[in-house]
Amino acid sequence: METTVTTTPAVLILLGPPGAGKGTQARLLEQEFGLVQLSTGDLLRAAVAEGTEAGKQAKAVMEAGKLVSDDIVIAILRDRVAQADCARGVILDGFPRTTVQAEALDTMLAETGQSVNAAISLAVEDDAMVQRISGRFTCAKCGEGYHDTFKPPKTPGVCDKCGSTEMTRRADDNAETVASRLAAYHEQTEPLIAYYDARGVLRTVDAMQGIDKVADEMDGIVRDVMK
Ligand code: AP5
Repeated sequence: METTVTTTPAVLILLGPPGAGKGTQARLLEQEFGLVQLSTGDLLRAAVAEGTEAGKQAKAVMEAGKLVSDDIVIAILRDRVAQADCARGVILDGFPRTTVQAEALDTMLAETGQSVNAAISLAVEDDAMVQRISGRFTCAKCGEGYHDTFKPPKTPGVCDKCGSTEMTRRADDNAETVASRLAAYHEQTEPLIAYYDARGVLRTVDAMQGIDKVADEMDGIVRDVMK
C-alpha cells in the first residue's frame, strides 16, 4: 500500500484502557507510516530496568497498577520527544493519561508550532481487558507482542519477527494489578476523551473487533489526518 507523505510531522495519541491494543496498533502504524511509537510504559520499564532515579520512584507505583507522578512522566516524555527521530512524527502510546499531562503536551508542542492531529480512543469493554492482558507475552529480543489466543506466534514459542525463543510476561499483568490499572484509567484518563473532543481532534474506534479490523480503521483515520 502506498504511504501518504506529510509536510509537517504528525502527532497522534492513542487513548484506551490497559489491554485495549494501544501498543499493538502503535507498532502497526509505526511500520505503515514511518512514525515513531513513544510508549511511556516502555520508557518507564526501561528506567526501572536501568535503575535510574525516575525508575526507582516508578517501580512500586507501576507494580501497584497506579499512575506514576506527572512530573516524572512528563520529564521522560519531554526528553524522548526531543530526540532527532521524533521529527518524523510520533504516536503517543499511553501518554497523556491525566489532564495535567495533556496540558503539558499542548504547551510542549506549541513551543515548536505543533499540535495534536488526532487522539484516537480505542473503545473496549472492561471484561475483555483481563483476558487480553492475562494472555499477553512479548518477544524479549525485538519487543513484538503476542497473545496466547488472539495472536499466537506462527511457530509456538518462536518470534515471527526475529526468530528468538525468549518470551517475557510483564510483572504488572496479573488480575489484582489489572483491576487497579482499570480503575486508574476510568478515574484519571477517561476524562481526556472529552478534553480532545472539545478540541475537535477526537476519533473513536471500536476496539472490540479483531486486531486486523481495528488496524484497518486506524489506517483510514491516520491517512485522513495526515493528508
Ligand atoms: P503501559 O505500559 O502503558 O500499560 P497499559 O496502558 O496498561 O497498556 P498495556 O500495554 O497493558 O495495553 P495496550 O493497550 O498497549 O494493549 P496491547 O496492545 O499490549 O503502562 C504501564 C504502567 O506504567 C501504568 O500502569 C503506569 O503505572 C505507568 N505509566 C505508563 N504511562 C504513564 C503515564 N502517562 N502516566 C503515569 N503513569 C504511566 O494488547 C494487549 C493484548 O491483547 C496483547 O496480547 C494483544 O495481542 C491483544 N490484543 C490487542 N488488540 C486486540 C484485539 N483487537 N483483539 C484481541 N486481542 C487483542
